[in-house]
Amino acid sequence: MSTGRPLQLAVLISGRGSNMAAIARACAAGEIDARVRLVISERAGVAGLDTARALGLETRTIAWSGATERLRFERALERALADARADLIVLAGFMRILSQEFVEARIGRILNIHPSLLPLYRGLHTHRRVLAAGERVHGASVHFVTAELDGGPVILQSRVAVLPDDTEATLSARVQTTEHTAGSHGVESGPGSMASRSRCRWWRILMSAGRVERAALVAAMLISAAWSQAAPPPQAPPPQPPQFVATYTIAWHGITAGTSTLELQSTSPQLYLYTSTDRAYGVFRLAFPHALRQSSRFRVAAGQVEPLTFQAGGPGNDVMAQFDWKSGQVTGMAKGKLLDLKLQPGTQDPLSVQIAIMLALQARDAPESFWMLNTDEIDRYEYRRQGQSTLDTPLGKLRTILYTSHEAGSDKTTYLWLAPALDYMPARAEQHVKGSTQVSLEIQAFTRR
Ligand code: GRF
Repeated sequence: MSTGRPLQLAVLISGRGSNMAAIARACAAGEIDARVRLVISERAGVAGLDTARALGLETRTIAWSGATERLRFERALERALADARADLIVLAGFMRILSQEFVEARIGRILNIHPSLLPLYRGLHTHRRVLAAGERVHGASVHFVTAELDGGPVILQSRVAVLPDDTEATLSARVQTTEHTAGSHGVESGPGSMASRSRCRWWRILMSAGRVERAALVAAMLISAAWSQAAPPPQAPPPQPPQFVATYTIAWHGITAGTSTLELQSTSPQLYLYTSTDRAYGVFRLAFPHALRQSSRFRVAAGQVEPLTFQAGGPGNDVMAQFDWKSGQVTGMAKGKLLDLKLQPGTQDPLSVQIAIMLALQARDAPESFWMLNTDEIDRYEYRRQGQSTLDTPLGKLRTILYTSHEAGSDKTTYLWLAPALDYMPARAEQHVKGSTQVSLEIQAFTRR
């Protein structure tokens, strides 16, 4: 492969070709040291071919008339790529799936632009699915293509906030505007951003795998360099918790025992009051004659939750705690004794931790562990993402992400099915002791205020 010439790109399209045009313009303006050598469409007569010709680019149509045609298509594509001496293939709105053999022979030399924040929402209709799931943030990814559909290493990502009145059309238009920058310059700036972290990680993986072709390295460097110079896009403001009332049924060893109502309200800017009230049914009233109430007051600043006070009333389990973040102590009373503990960074109380998880997931920051006030101790709870599932609930089918929470050395594990459509509140929660379900909660109602 030669060294001094600009990177030769072959851009594959299926339709409008606006990404192809954005890349070609960035090349022509010298913003990236590359040249669109050939535009290949798998359909005749699409608007992207006219745009390419108007930009003075060479075009080819290699018609794809069905899955059985793939071999014939790929042979013709290989010849066209060889004629064009293409270093790198960019799939820009190319709606066909290339074969494993074709892709694996070119690892690191095929890029794709996909309209979602991969690994979320692979496949088609991403904007529609993002709206249906009630996501707050969406975007586009540029990634290396592997045999796994939309599954290859992410190079960079752009993000947009999903607005309350967005439709599929408005959201897709906003995401595509960022794609046009991402394909040529890259967007989403700032060290430590999700995109830069994934870029570094994949760099290392690709390098250590020894599979990197010069073209891919150059492409990634060009994209990274231009990306770091690009003006940062308007950032979505850090998420604030929604105000809501959520009601759950509580089951004890499978028997419905009562209800739990969780209510979050904002008392002044950035200050919140979160209460949980449990009421027992029937025979369980004998054990719990009064409603059990817990409350947490906390502040939310820059997307971080900082508890201020926590109170819980329960037989032998009373807690009144005050968090003093200046002195780094939590003081008060627990189980009738004085409480005086050193705060760990980011310590939560048993209620505020749910809101901290909610905000972390909304900001696409997977929670891994929290220090938490546990009656008269501060313990560390590990959070593990276990997968996804769709639950049938009284609110209908809800897509959920399953997390477990566990304190080292304890025989209890909490399972949380967090639903994006409920702002990541649990649709279901279960507490397992030594592997068997002791208490479970199931959502009955969720009202935003
Ligand atoms: C873009 O949204 C891209 O993310 C997806 O297909 C669309 C193509 O648009 N892969 P265009 O043909 O580049 O205008």
